Amino acid sequence: MGSQDSQAVDGQTGVTGRRALLGAAVLGAGGAVLGLSGAARAAAADGTAEVRHGGGLRSLPVPTIIGHRGASGYRPEHTFGSYQLALDLGAHVVEAGDLVPTKDGHLVCRHEPEIGGTTDVADHKEFADRRTTKVLDGVSVTGWFTEDFTLAELKTLRAIERIPANRPHNTLYNGRWEIPTFEEVLKWQDEQTRKRGRQVWIYPETKHPTYFRKLGLGLEERVAKLLRKHGKDGRNAPVILQSFEPSSIQRLNRLVDNPLVVLLSSATSRPWDFVEAGDPRTVADLITPAGLREIAGYAQGIGPTLDLVIPKDANGDLTTPTTLVADAHKVGLILHPYTMRNENPFLPTSFRKGTDADAYGDVFGAYKTYFATGIDGVFTDNPDTGLLAREDFVNS
Ligand code: G3P
Ligand code: CA
Repeated sequence: MGSQDSQAVDGQTGVTGRRALLGAAVLGAGGAVLGLSGAARAAAADGTAEVRHGGGLRSLPVPTIIGHRGASGYRPEHTFGSYQLALDLGAHVVEAGDLVPTKDGHLVCRHEPEIGGTTDVADHKEFADRRTTKVLDGVSVTGWFTEDFTLAELKTLRAIERIPANRPHNTLYNGRWEIPTFEEVLKWQDEQTRKRGRQVWIYPETKHPTYFRKLGLGLEERVAKLLRKHGKDGRNAPVILQSFEPSSIQRLNRLVDNPLVVLLSSATSRPWDFVEAGDPRTVADLITPAGLREIAGYAQGIGPTLDLVIPKDANGDLTTPTTLVADAHKVGLILHPYTMRNENPFLPTSFRKGTDADAYGDVFGAYKTYFATGIDGVFTDNPDTGLLAREDFVNS
């Protein structure tokens, strides 16, 4: 990483590399203020000094490398082993974590409530009778669910690798780490910030918020309460909040001042809160200029799939970039697409090398293509690879 970028990451000195800092207020060709958080960009444009939400986003380097579920390319996801490695590798932000609740109301870090695929729960005979089938956001799912376990029970489990066919080496760490709680993450963030002498950023996500609210386990109030307790609910707090359900982000918008990001799945999909509310709109509607303007009224960014930035053809090859980056920037929203992974099956076809499911493809080529669209950051399972690709890009 170049020296200017190092300063941006480590010291947050305000020194600007060519594309290094969100706070640099770089003027783009069209005169738009690039590289600022959405609200901050709008404020900078109209001269307003005060921005309620997301001001701290300005201290992050661009493009921002976000460790997806930690460094999940190398360690079982959503463990302190994975989070710690993401920091060690230099990730600017760590997605710690995807948040789901326990039966007794604690928030824990799992990608989904069903834990059969990411823990050793199947080996625990005492929990055999908890295996069940539920309908989760319209999909029938069989397994074990966090909301049926107390925190004490979940703490007896250990994490395992989700995709051993792609990541056989990661199984070395099966059984090593327990499921983190969100409160443990908030304390870990402070410890790591002190220890490393640089601000550690996290990027938690509310998972299935409508589903859990109907079970009496609303997520947003719990998130807000913990953020407040740890003094991390302000506009400059190093905690970005994300959700696939716009109403969850709107609720968080009323509870805290943190930067907020609306996640966007495929164009034809409907956020589950829309389904429940009878709102017929799809993601395609949300990414129109009008849809993006509406999002910019309560969030600072969007987290689209990479396919919404550059669609693939039937062969899995990249086609022409959409106007999403320009359209989002026009209304002051930053873009943090997901998810870059080094292994062949997760790359566009033309960037694969051979056919092995656990072999790496030409991921640098893929990064170059995606960064060229002007995205503000990216979620990646391999933060070290992402940082090298970023270095190539900012020095190009
Ligand atoms: O949060 C960004 C990205 O993580 C969204 O995808 O399914 O991995 O949570 P997912
Ligand atoms: Ca996530």
